[in-house]
Amino acid sequence: MESSEHLENPAEDTSDTLDPKDWDKFRTLAHQMVDDSIDRLIGLRNMPVWRPMPDEVRSVFSNQMPDAGIGPEAAYRIFCDAIAPYSSGNLHPRFMGWVQGGGTPVGMLAELLAGALNENCGGRDHVGIAVERQVIAWSAAMLGFPETAGGVLVTGSSMANFIGLLCARRRMLGANVRTGGLNGSQLVGYAQMGVHRCLVSAFDMAGLGSQALRRIPVDSDYRMNLDALNAQIEADRRGGLTPLLVIGTAGSVDVGAIDNLSRLAEIAARYDLWFHADAAFGALAALSAARRPLLAGIELADSVAFDFHKWAQVQYDAGCILVRDQNSLLDTFAQKASYLSNTSRGLSRGAAWPCDLGPDLSRSFRALKIWMTLQSYGGDRLGAIIDQTCEIATYLARQIDAAPDLSLLAPVALNIVCFRYDDGKEDLDDLNTEVVGDLQEAGSFVPSTTRIGGRIAIRAAIVNHRTTRSDVDALVKAVTAAGRRRRK
Ligand SMILES: Cc1ncc(COP(=O)(O)O)c(C=O)c1O
Repeated sequence: MESSEHLENPAEDTSDTLDPKDWDKFRTLAHQMVDDSIDRLIGLRNMPVWRPMPDEVRSVFSNQMPDAGIGPEAAYRIFCDAIAPYSSGNLHPRFMGWVQGGGTPVGMLAELLAGALNENCGGRDHVGIAVERQVIAWSAAMLGFPETAGGVLVTGSSMANFIGLLCARRRMLGANVRTGGLNGSQLVGYAQMGVHRCLVSAFDMAGLGSQALRRIPVDSDYRMNLDALNAQIEADRRGGLTPLLVIGTAGSVDVGAIDNLSRLAEIAARYDLWFHADAAFGALAALSAARRPLLAGIELADSVAFDFHKWAQVQYDAGCILVRDQNSLLDTFAQKASYLSNTSRGLSRGAAWPCDLGPDLSRSFRALKIWMTLQSYGGDRLGAIIDQTCEIATYLARQIDAAPDLSLLAPVALNIVCFRYDDGKEDLDDLNTEVVGDLQEAGSFVPSTTRIGGRIAIRAAIVNHRTTRSDVDALVKAVTAAGRRRRK
């Protein structure tokens, strides 16, 4: 039944709505937006990877909020002129900075469809919740988790890792931590030296203090040194501290190393500690038959943080926290609120609601773009893309080894290659920082930098499904040329 049928006399109703008066005009604009977005994807290689924003573009974003709107056509013109050309560049095949996925055309349309439904996925009984549950179930199966598993979609692994830590804290301190706080407990956790900074923040935010995260040395493959871990746990126990959890890294942010997760699970079990895996991008290696064995032991984790927006190429943002027992999330987050009670019928049916599994109440239909991506491409194809990015990274490492002025700074475990221009002269840190700046500002490539063994490295993370061997051949040439140019 149309809503106007409820009105006694619709013609007399003068109330405003934000829907267009002229739907045909709106449809034309909508089609134009979709066409332009597809054209942008088709033409990616003809565009700079990234370009700096000129001052006049920046100034567009310092205006006051308008009292009178300019309409969607004019707003879209600003998007075309001042927004789209200056985006971060991670769609582009030559974007290799940090660990960022390239998105897909399917994910792009899924964002539109999710916006069209405008679901609030905090809870209740509607399809957005069912789709999210399916994505969680698929994730649990992908990582070999048991039937008891549960999870919730979040912004990214920063939030997912924080949630994992809160579950560990709740398990150790019981329900009282939710009302009485830490109450003087001195909890400590353990992760490898190359742990992502978000876990340092998580310790800070959880009230444990960032120093409570013990950073354990790594071996020559950048994996946590297990003897050092055991020694630190023993020392902390002797010192009267309370070991809380062991964090395994599956795909370290700098070099892509994967800790020995099976051994970490054993150590965690021996000391009765929570075992959490930060598998922000590494978890997706489970989709590749060739690389799944690298993750052995992840199925033993109490919680795993990972992202679909990295190696699964889903549009930002799409993170996930998975726990081996959904009750861990409920124990940590569920609250009673009369306006959010479950009922036996109607829209308020069904449990558990996502708002009881994490900190967010109102949530977007984040699951749709993940579901559409997994449905459309399938696990095998995404796994093959993951293999492809690793093979291109290995190929790049070989090209670097063969190049006279380049040197590799770390072994390539997955898809991250750390190297630098090295002509044996002074100031290599400054030189390599400048080389990266030169490439980025020229719009030709976006690698990023990091420090390996105290030295500045150029870091190429091959995540984007569009990147090819020719792209990394061109990167080798461009870095060499930029380094030589700077030496002149
Ligand atoms: C190993 C690791 N952990 C955590 C994160 C944080 O993830 P997000 O940026 O999705 O919050 C990253 C991001 O690159 C990462 O590589």
